Amino acid sequence: MVPLLSSSSRPAHAEADAECHWAALDMLATLVAVVRSDARLLFVNAALEGVLGHSRQTLRGQSLATFFAEPYTLVQAIHNASTNQFATQRYETQLLRPGADPLPVHVVVAQSENAEQVVIELLQLETQSRHDREDRLVSQSLANKELVRNLAHEIKNPLGGLRGAAQLLEMELDDAALREYTQVIIHEADRLQALVDRLLAPHRSAPELAEVNIHEVCERVRSLVLVEFPLGLKIERDYDISIPEFRGDRERLIQSVLNLVQNAAHALEQRIMAGDAVIRLRTRVLRQITLGKRRYKLALELLVIDNGPGVPAAMQDQVFYPLVTGKAGGTGLGLTLAQSYVQQHQGLIECESVPGRTVFRVLIPLE
Ligand SMILES: Nc1ncnc2c1ncn2[C@@H]1O[C@H](COP(=O)(O)OP(=O)(O)OP(=O)(O)O)[C@@H](O)[C@H]1O
Ligand SMILES: [Mg+2]
Repeated sequence: MVPLLSSSSRPAHAEADAECHWAALDMLATLVAVVRSDARLLFVNAALEGVLGHSRQTLRGQSLATFFAEPYTLVQAIHNASTNQFATQRYETQLLRPGADPLPVHVVVAQSENAEQVVIELLQLETQSRHDREDRLVSQSLANKELVRNLAHEIKNPLGGLRGAAQLLEMELDDAALREYTQVIIHEADRLQALVDRLLAPHRSAPELAEVNIHEVCERVRSLVLVEFPLGLKIERDYDISIPEFRGDRERLIQSVLNLVQNAAHALEQRIMAGDAVIRLRTRVLRQITLGKRRYKLALELLVIDNGPGVPAAMQDQVFYPLVTGKAGGTGLGLTLAQSYVQQHQGLIECESVPGRTVFRVLIPLE
């Protein structure tokens, strides 16, 4: 039963009254529709309006079943609910969206207190698994942050002493051949120091916020990478130029996107030699999305897509961990750093990869 939907005893005002009750449904991230027993729409909440791409005024009176891959199943379920054969009924199907891919949903058809009204709740199946993945990424990165910070400090302190002692020792040595050994100590201590500095970089200072245009960020990265890889690599742009500016740290975002695009370019080594390496930078606006358990009206999505061999399957769950690398000279910090910087913008980076198509997806909330 859905108590939100108690009906009015005055038919003339019934719809207006009900509309007020339903307004609360606009706060939900789940997609909700209220229909009559013949499946015609009385109300859709804001989340469902967003997914269907029509306003509730346009949708009112239309049959909800026309938006479903199996319309008859829905009509039957609504009939069953309104004739009291079931209080609730659940099944999985696909929601057909004009101009977009079908959306896999879990449908819950429930009676309301008014026998004439049936409530349909749609849970996005991919969202559920995305939430799980996001939760994992967020908690993983929190654990990373703590571990890395502590470890880096532990290494940093004795490192200074080690280097100083080697320098003192070097001054006492008469034999030049032995100085080679102290030089090794000093050189390696410097290398470790640089590594530790990179590990601590994202936690060192607060982001410097200013208005950022994501396409300026992309263009900057594009030109930097094309200077590094002038031959055999194409970087295509597919921008949605309507994306508004937002407050962010421009330099950190450039660094994040640069790390993603450089990784893609490195993975494309073979194709660059063959001359058919392509990286695509694609931007879009997403509406009504949930990120890190918070709901946002608007977010920006930036995809970095490459046609390289892909992230090895065994590594896919760990690419954002520090020091995880598949490259001979890699430090395995590029993605950790990119993820930290994007999370400082309340955003998230995800990865999906199969041979021939690797997508790193940056999501940043706008409002
Ligand atoms: N687009 C991609 N295609 C295939 N593998 C990738 C891609 N991006 C990342 N990887 C894999 O993920 C690993 C981790 O990347 P990450 O940027 O964190 O470290 P790195 O590139 O090895 O070193 P660095 O610290 O210099 O960036 C890479 O070594 C590579 O094996
Ligand atoms: Mg890298």
